[in-house]
Amino acid sequence: MNEELKLQTVNEKIPINIDNDTILNINTKSVNKLTHGFHKYPGKYIPQIPNWAIKKYLNNNKTNTIIDPFCGSGTTLVEGLTEGNNVIGVDIDPLSVLISKVKTTHIDTEKFDIISKWIIKKIKDNSVKGQFTPRIETLNHWFTQEAIEKLSKIRFLINNIPDKFECDENIKNAFYICFSSIIRRVSNADNQSQKTYVSHTKIKKPTEVYSLFFNQLKHYQERFNDFAIETDRKFKSEIINTSSSEKISEILKNITIDLAITSPPYIKAIDYIYNQMAELFWIGDLFKMETQPKQNILKNQYIGNKQIKKIEYSDYNPYEKKTHLHELDIILEQIFTLDAKNGQKHAYITQKYFAEMENHFAEMKKLLKLKTHYIMVVGDSTVSDIYVETANIISRIAERNGFKLINKWGYKIKNRYMRFDRKGRGGIINIDWVLDFERMKK
Ligand SMILES: C[S@@+](CC[C@H](N)C(=O)[O-])C[C@H]1O[C@@H](n2cnc3c(N)ncnc32)[C@H](O)[C@@H]1O
Repeated sequence: MNEELKLQTVNEKIPINIDNDTILNINTKSVNKLTHGFHKYPGKYIPQIPNWAIKKYLNNNKTNTIIDPFCGSGTTLVEGLTEGNNVIGVDIDPLSVLISKVKTTHIDTEKFDIISKWIIKKIKDNSVKGQFTPRIETLNHWFTQEAIEKLSKIRFLINNIPDKFECDENIKNAFYICFSSIIRRVSNADNQSQKTYVSHTKIKKPTEVYSLFFNQLKHYQERFNDFAIETDRKFKSEIINTSSSEKISEILKNITIDLAITSPPYIKAIDYIYNQMAELFWIGDLFKMETQPKQNILKNQYIGNKQIKKIEYSDYNPYEKKTHLHELDIILEQIFTLDAKNGQKHAYITQKYFAEMENHFAEMKKLLKLKTHYIMVVGDSTVSDIYVETANIISRIAERNGFKLINKWGYKIKNRYMRFDRKGRGGIINIDWVLDFERMKK
C-alpha cells in the first residue's frame, strides 16, 4: 500500500468527513437488513456506502432524487428510499432490474403470505398438477434429478397462482425473485465462487429445495414488513433496463437529479451473465435469456465484458489508436507489448472499457446540474499482470467531461463474494476507491 495512505478503523457508521487518501477498515454486521439480503449479486457493495453519501449530501428538508446508473441489485435504491428520497436505477442486466424492483417495491404482504401458504400446502399435500422444466440439455450437470423435479413444481405453482388471489405483478415478481434466490444453493454449483461451476474435487451436497424455499418465503415476508415500516410509500422508485453509456440523458431529460451514487463494472472482472447462469436457466425465460446462446447475444452491451470476438480486436493497435490520456496510452501499450499471447485482446478490452465509461460521463454531464455530486466506487485491476489504476484513469476521464474530483478515499473489501475471486487472471482487488466528483462548468 502507498505510504501516504492513512488507515482508519470504523464500526458500522462511516464518518461524514473523511480525509483524502484515507483507507477505512469498516467493521459492519448489518449488511442484510431490510430487503438488502433478498438475492446475492456479483459486485454488490455494502449499504453503508450509499448511506454515507446520502447523509453527507442530502441533509436538507426537501424530497431529493438519487440515481444509480449501474444499480445492480439495488443497494443504493433501498438506502435512498429508506432515507426518504425518490430513486432511479438503471442497469443493462434484466435480472438485476427485477431484483431491484422487488427490493424497492411495497407489496401487499398479507396477500404474499396467503399465496405463500397456498404454495406450501400444495407442495406438502403433493397435489401439484404440472411442471415447468427448462429445456436445457445440460440441466442434469447443474442440478440433481430431485432438485429439478422440486424446482419445476415451485415454478409451475408461481406461474399458475389462481385468479381468486388477485395476485398483481409486484407480488408475482417477488415470488420469482424469492425462487431465484435459492437456485444456486440447491444446484450442484459451488456456492462461494461467483462463477457458476461444478467442482469435481469439492463435491457439494445441494441444500434441499422445499425447506430452503419455505424458509426464504418467511424471510421475504418479514423483510417486506420491515421495509414497509422503515419506508414511506410516498417515495418513488423507477428502474430502467438500458445501457448507461447511451441515451440516458435523453430518457431522463425531464428529471432533476440531486445525487448520483454507483459502482460501475470493473475491467474484465465479472461476467454477470455467466455468474447468474443457474438462475437464468430457471427464470431467464421472463426476459428471453433462458439459454446460453440467447444470453451471449446480450453480453456485448455489458461494460467490461471480456468475451470479445477476434474480428472485433484483430486490427487494434494502441500505438496507432490513442486515447489522448497519457497514463492510459502507456498502460495499453504495455499490455499490448508485454503479453505476447493475449496482449492485443486485453489491451482492446481495456480501452473499450474506458471508452464506454467516457460515454457514460458524457451522458451524466448532460443529466446532472451544476454542483451535483457523483459518488463512484471502483477498484483498480490487473490486466495481463499489469496494474491498471482504474480509479485514477476514471478520474481523468471524468475531469475531461465536466466533473471535478474533490475527494478520494478507499475501504478494504471484506466479503469475497461481493467482489472477486483471487484465483485466475482477473486481477487482485483489495480496496474499493470512493471517488467524489462534483459537476462543474466546463
Ligand atoms: C458492480 S455492479 C453494481 C452492484 C450494485 N452496486 C449492488 O450493490 O448490487 C455493476 C453493474 O453494472 C451493470 N452494467 C454493465 N454494463 C452496463 C451498461 N452498459 N449500462 C448499465 N449497466 C451496466 C452490470 O449489469 C452490473 O449490475
